[in-house]
Amino acid sequence: MWSKSILLLVIISLTCMFSIVYAFLYPILHSLFDETRAQICQSASQYEQCSSNTACACLRLMNTVNDGICAYLRVKCSELISCANNNRTCYRPDHICVNHSRCHSTPLCYPIDMTLQIFCPPIPSMTTPPPPVIPDDGICASATWNQNGVTVAGGNGRGSSLDQLNEPLGLFVDEDAAVYVADTLNFRVVKWASGASSGQVVAGGNGEGNQTNQMKYATKIIIDKNGTMFICDHTNMRVQRWFKNDDHGQTIIENISCWGLALDKEESLYVSDWEKLRIMKWPSEEIVAGGNGQGSALNQLFYPCDVFIDQDQSIFVADDGNQRIIKWPVGAKEGIVVAGHNQLESPQSVVVDQMGAVYAVDYGNHVVRWLKDAASGSIIISQHGAGNGTDELSDPTDLAFDRQGNLYVVDRTNSRVQMFTIDKSSCDRNLVST
Ligand SMILES: *[C@@H]1O[C@H](CO)[C@@H](O)[C@H](O)[C@H]1NC(C)=O
Ligand SMILES: *[C@@H]1O[C@H](CO)[C@@H](O)[C@H](O)[C@H]1NC(C)=O
Ligand SMILES: *[C@@H]1O[C@H](CO)[C@@H](O)[C@H](O)[C@H]1NC(C)=O
Ligand SMILES: *[C@@H]1O[C@H](CO)[C@@H](O)[C@H](O)[C@H]1NC(C)=O
Ligand SMILES: *[C@@H]1O[C@H](CO)[C@@H](O)[C@H](O)[C@H]1NC(C)=O
Ligand SMILES: *[C@@H]1O[C@H](CO)[C@@H](O)[C@H](O)[C@H]1NC(C)=O
Repeated sequence: MWSKSILLLVIISLTCMFSIVYAFLYPILHSLFDETRAQICQSASQYEQCSSNTACACLRLMNTVNDGICAYLRVKCSELISCANNNRTCYRPDHICVNHSRCHSTPLCYPIDMTLQIFCPPIPSMTTPPPPVIPDDGICASATWNQNGVTVAGGNGRGSSLDQLNEPLGLFVDEDAAVYVADTLNFRVVKWASGASSGQVVAGGNGEGNQTNQMKYATKIIIDKNGTMFICDHTNMRVQRWFKNDDHGQTIIENISCWGLALDKEESLYVSDWEKLRIMKWPSEEIVAGGNGQGSALNQLFYPCDVFIDQDQSIFVADDGNQRIIKWPVGAKEGIVVAGHNQLESPQSVVVDQMGAVYAVDYGNHVVRWLKDAASGSIIISQHGAGNGTDELSDPTDLAFDRQGNLYVVDRTNSRVQMFTIDKSSCDRNLVST
């Protein structure tokens, strides 16, 4: 196995027509070795050796704090293009934004293919298996979404069997595009793997109640990098933490009318409290937004349904009662309205992408996007009715994106989750050639 892969690398290294040979060899290589993953170089320095192939080295990833990726460096600098959006995003499919300062001072989009372990086998002493790398190639301003959704969870009527949901309220989409659903009236959280026709219970499923393995009207869920799940157990007035594969949870916050949850990049948790009209950060228990009573002033919230934290740690709140999305920069005493302006009826959930565009799902059955600093938003998933057709939503309550930018919406009354495929074909024109 080793010697075969080294032999192939030698063959590949010897040719100048690398990409042509690569294209021919790829299916063979793919069948010979299951080395279709890239290797993350954790905390290694720029250009540090990371592979038994000395033509490979670590390149810093622009989207993470400490990680690099082990890359085969014999790609011509002239073939690489700059990253977009604050030098962090690649719109070219299957490219990832890296620092390759020997080629150019600004970050460049590197082909994921050139980072696979068939080209850059790990140094044998590196024993821990690396996490898979999925290209996070961003969403551009001109991207659109297919108006016909595909059902990725539920869709088989309201019910409690494993291929059904019962008025779900929240969802979380992981790196493998598995969808976790707060299956509210089934008092459980279910995981639907990508392409699955039924779900598996990952929390609850023991009826309605206040025991550690139960829940009562779970609204939103979020999962951290370790697979630990946080659940807004609304009617039990608590936030539950379930470690991965555990059969029960622990209460981490009590006496809280939890409705929405978010994690920041340091894995602190943010909880929106419907009753106290504020956002609390955990474990520090600081009040980071609202907390000044009910009202529409900029320092107040009115039914904060959801919260989202962006890369600058700014707090975005779906301020349902005020029909707006309000942003509280770190340490601010009041917020800034970033979306609403008579365009939102009842915002249920908010997500902000890497270019600062704000996405809100409105109980009025559509999804609206405000580009950064825009005075008005545009509808990206339109309302075509409130039935159960592929282009319809009925009381949508939550949204999320996968790593490719496909949009997932909880279609509550239809007891299903719809996925709307992104179309990035118009994105390339935003690229700057180096
Ligand atoms: C991105 O790169 C450009 C040069 O292409 C530079 O002027 C700009 O400051 C960079 N932005 C950031 C956020 O680093
Ligand atoms: C890329 O890495 C070099 C060090 O190798 C550093 O000096 C430079 O600031 C980095 N560039 C960016 C955009 O992070
Ligand atoms: C979709 O709606 C139609 C009309 O209301 C109904 O007959 C059908 O059973 C629904 N389908 C599902 C899967 O709920
Ligand atoms: C839990 O539920 C039981 C039965 O409904 C109730 O008697 C008890 O007071 C509840 N405990 C708490 C802490 O709310
Ligand atoms: C995740 O797991 C690692 C290793 O067990 C631990 O050091 C880290 O604190 C955990 N992170 C969170 C947010 O629990
Ligand atoms: C829960 O919060 C309310 C309102 O702040 C307070 O009056 C009450 O004493 C709290 N209850 C507990 C058990 O901490």
